[in-house]
Amino acid sequence: MKNPLIEQTVVLIKPDGVKRALVGEIVSRFEKIGLKIVGMKMVWVDEEMVRKHYPTERRQWVTKIGEKTLEAYKNYGTDPKEHLGTMEPYEIGVLICKWLVDYLTSGPVVAMVLEGPHAITAVRKMAGYTYPDTAVPGTIRGDFSIDSPDLANMIKRSGMNLVHASGNTEEAKFEIALWFRKKEIHNYKRADEGIMFGF
Ligand code: CDP
Ligand code: MG
Repeated sequence: MKNPLIEQTVVLIKPDGVKRALVGEIVSRFEKIGLKIVGMKMVWVDEEMVRKHYPTERRQWVTKIGEKTLEAYKNYGTDPKEHLGTMEPYEIGVLICKWLVDYLTSGPVVAMVLEGPHAITAVRKMAGYTYPDTAVPGTIRGDFSIDSPDLANMIKRSGMNLVHASGNTEEAKFEIALWFRKKEIHNYKRADEGIMFGF
């Protein structure tokens, strides 16, 4: 991984993706675009692991989840306070992190490290927007779900959006170390690398 443009990123197929038998479909999309699977396993995680993956101490990120939620409600023209009991972004974020524990521990997840040029952005683009009802067709979230945050919040659960994808370089580095040991990440050549990338 000497080329600085070659990045590694973490993808989790969340329990809804696994239970809906979409693992093959999702993995296949990443393979076809040219991303190399360099690590992969199925794990059924506990609360401690989810809390590490989605740390509420990451205040800015938690607040952003709350702000994103409020923005969605504004677009729907509905009242978030009715579902969430608060209008405070950080508090909403904390609540959602709690629901994320139930979601991520509700079944096994498939964890992957994908590698390729600008892999982090490429995977985010393919995953699509956080809320499947807003994610555009052609993206994983947009093609396989129509879940919306207001429905999720109304019944007091996390939004179910099939995949997690590292949001940036910092998150990717942190998540690779959290989910994988060094010896679980493999260095090999894909047969079509030369044709796709010229190296
Ligand atoms: O996953 P992504 O990076 O697109 O979104 P995030 O803002 O990092 O939020 C993490 C996860 O929290 C999402 O993927 C959703 O599963 C969940 N979430 C939710 O259930 N309801 C919200 N209003 C916001 C996020
Ligand atoms: Mg995120």
